[in-house]
Amino acid sequence: MVDSLRVFAGNAHPRLAEQICAYLGVDRGEAEVGAFPDGEIRVKINENVRGCDTFIVQPTGAPAENLVELLVMIDALRRASARRVTAVLPYFGYARQDRKDQPRVPISSKLVANLITTAGAERVLTMDLHSSQIQGFFDIPLDHIFAAPVLIEYFQSKEIPNLTVVAPDVGSLKMARAYSKRLNASLALVDKRRTRVDDTEVMNLIGEVEGRNVVIFDDVISTGRTIARAAVELKKRGATSIRVGVTHGGFAPVAQEILGEAPIEEVVVTDSLPPKSMDLGGKLQTLTVSRLLGEAIRRIHEERSLSSLFV
Ligand code: R5P
Repeated sequence: MVDSLRVFAGNAHPRLAEQICAYLGVDRGEAEVGAFPDGEIRVKINENVRGCDTFIVQPTGAPAENLVELLVMIDALRRASARRVTAVLPYFGYARQDRKDQPRVPISSKLVANLITTAGAERVLTMDLHSSQIQGFFDIPLDHIFAAPVLIEYFQSKEIPNLTVVAPDVGSLKMARAYSKRLNASLALVDKRRTRVDDTEVMNLIGEVEGRNVVIFDDVISTGRTIARAAVELKKRGATSIRVGVTHGGFAPVAQEILGEAPIEEVVVTDSLPPKSMDLGGKLQTLTVSRLLGEAIRRIHEERSLSSLFV
């Protein structure tokens, strides 16, 4: 059975795919994922996958080619008679428009779920979705795992005294509560208001941070403003030190300046997305989720429970 496990990757994050393959002890599946001279994506699977349990590792954030490569690869594997195709999305892109909260906006995450399913994926493995209800946008089995074990292990190893975990907005409160429990820390919440698509303002801080060492946990960093504005407020309220733990380092170019100037000691992200060339003056730390994803793939392949990956 193990022989039938094949792991493929597009061009979104080949390094992570290689690390996952190393963990699983398999070679990466042979495929050409390139483009025609005019730029259209062209895929060719270069090995026999009949009856194989196939996995495609591909975060679907920008550029849009990442998503299209995934769809075309799923189609190629289906037509090559793979027994099963699982889309492994370390980062599920297009997640932020997940409800109709304004007139004339799409529900992009539902659209992407439809596209992945229609292309022929039979399962999805993903990590730290922007909102967990996105699971319900898929009518195929979806395993939603968390980077928490990796981030928790890191922060535990630092043995930070007087620790308070901070949720930078209401959306991340549930996640932050889970971190605070595991890290034996108190909990605080920043009441954030989004003023523009790329900016936020802090309305309130709920909880005590004076004299505390703080870790802010969030699912994604884009411009870095959510984190930076929260950090400034926490500092104003007397926090001793401020660190950040985020699953997806989506860093927009402007994040370097914003985070570089923020009163933050350390920004810890995972490699769910390819590392960006960011100079945060030594503040940036990247942890790998390759073993976590590799183990999840192994268990899916062996039809074993994934529950123990959550502790
Ligand atoms: C918002 O709901 C998310 O959890 C993140 O806080 C947000 O997307 C981060 O964006 P930025 O870094 O641009 O503030």
